[in-house]
Amino acid sequence: MQLFIVAIFSFCIAFVSCSTPVCMHGFTLANNKCLKLYTNETTYKLAEQSCKTFGATLVTPKNLNDNRAITTFLGSSASLVWMGLYCFDSNPSKCLWDDASGSADSYNSFASGFPLVDIGKCVYFSAQGALAGKWLSGDCEKETRAYVCELPHTYADSCQFNYNGHCYTIHDSTTFVQAQSICEQECGNLASITSANENRYLQTLTNKLVMDSNLIGGMWPSLNVFNWIDGSPTSYNNIDRSATYNANCMAVSNSASLSVPPGYWYSVSCNSPRNFICKRPAGVKCSGTPPPVTMTPVPSNPSLCNSTLLLAPGVITSPNYPQNYANNQSCSYQLATLGSYQILLKFDGFITEATYDVVNVYDGDFTNKPLLGSYSGNLGSFHVDSTGNAMYVTFKSDRSNVAQGFSARFLSYSSP
Ligand SMILES: *[C@@H]1O[C@H](CO)[C@@H](O)[C@H](O)[C@H]1NC(C)=O
Ligand SMILES: *[C@@H]1O[C@H](CO)[C@@H](O)[C@H](O)[C@H]1NC(C)=O
Ligand SMILES: *[C@@H]1O[C@H](CO)[C@@H](O)[C@H](O)[C@H]1NC(C)=O
Repeated sequence: MQLFIVAIFSFCIAFVSCSTPVCMHGFTLANNKCLKLYTNETTYKLAEQSCKTFGATLVTPKNLNDNRAITTFLGSSASLVWMGLYCFDSNPSKCLWDDASGSADSYNSFASGFPLVDIGKCVYFSAQGALAGKWLSGDCEKETRAYVCELPHTYADSCQFNYNGHCYTIHDSTTFVQAQSICEQECGNLASITSANENRYLQTLTNKLVMDSNLIGGMWPSLNVFNWIDGSPTSYNNIDRSATYNANCMAVSNSASLSVPPGYWYSVSCNSPRNFICKRPAGVKCSGTPPPVTMTPVPSNPSLCNSTLLLAPGVITSPNYPQNYANNQSCSYQLATLGSYQILLKFDGFITEATYDVVNVYDGDFTNKPLLGSYSGNLGSFHVDSTGNAMYVTFKSDRSNVAQGFSARFLSYSSP
């Protein structure tokens, strides 16, 4: 019996569903949304910026219950407030929600004759009188109105950054593996980002930071495949498609970034230290004994000598690089990419004992395939291309004389 009670108790601390929803920043719970009214009248843009300081949006009633809850929430405190909806045309299907959740086609409460973009493209909510609960069009720049900000509810927790059922922490620079283990000690993971709103919330936290980007929990083994380390769905993604894909971990840029626009995700090396963001469920007690790690994205053998099949992109080096390799070394590297791509192997540094310590590159999956080149000596940087989607590289040092060796990136490419 006692065991049974303990089991129920642990179930409740392990699952947030036992906790009561709460709102942060003095917002008020209304039909599971957290709302805050600002009675000062401003333009749409300033209202929207004001909500953004909390990671909030202007209010977004998505159904009849939401709409009623907002009318009730406003009561007699304000009659007309800006909403988080913007119309490109006088048709609800051309009115898009600020939280990137789509258009007002499936539910809207426009007053008859609205939306009407001749009046304005912004939308406001009427709380009183004959038009109570109705939406109207307003001029975004010229009209000033009160406004309501909206945040998702969360669960009570003493953490500093509590949003939508999760607590976030931001930490100083380290590598992916180390960062993930620090997050696990907090009973979380490197952060996943599963909606435009969550991405926006994290922007409000990280824009103040000096570092230009933060490591998140995206694992990115090849250009078109990425996963969240906490297993969250990947249906939302904000990858910067114009940034070069060249490594297997993921960072989100902030406003200090010069190369990638703020809020966009891009590939970064798993081994280069970065600030990072952890995420864990709010309202959960952490015993300090984290669940076992299930993923080890970075191999313990950094040279990748003799590793099993390596999918592009990645980096191979001689053992011990950038220190000297040893005598009598023998290594092989099997490189591969997707079927329709080829491999470009780019040596960024190459120094071996001329003639005796040799790297061979084969155009295929083993040493019985055509030799693309046999390299030794001080060669600096150069590249070798495969004709198909596999490449086999060997490195052998003889019994005397050593040197720094080599480091090479292997990338997928598609020849025109
Ligand atoms: C409205 O007033 C609040 C409280 O004084 C302030 O924090 C907010 O920035 C104001 N909003 C705008 C858009 O000026
Ligand atoms: C790599 O594999 C070869 C062949 O099995 C072996 O002789 C060699 O010692 C291995 N190299 C390393 C560094 O483990
Ligand atoms: C390398 O191998 C040779 C013969 O196979 C051996 O005599 C020599 O001691 C080895 N050197 C090292 C550093 O292991």
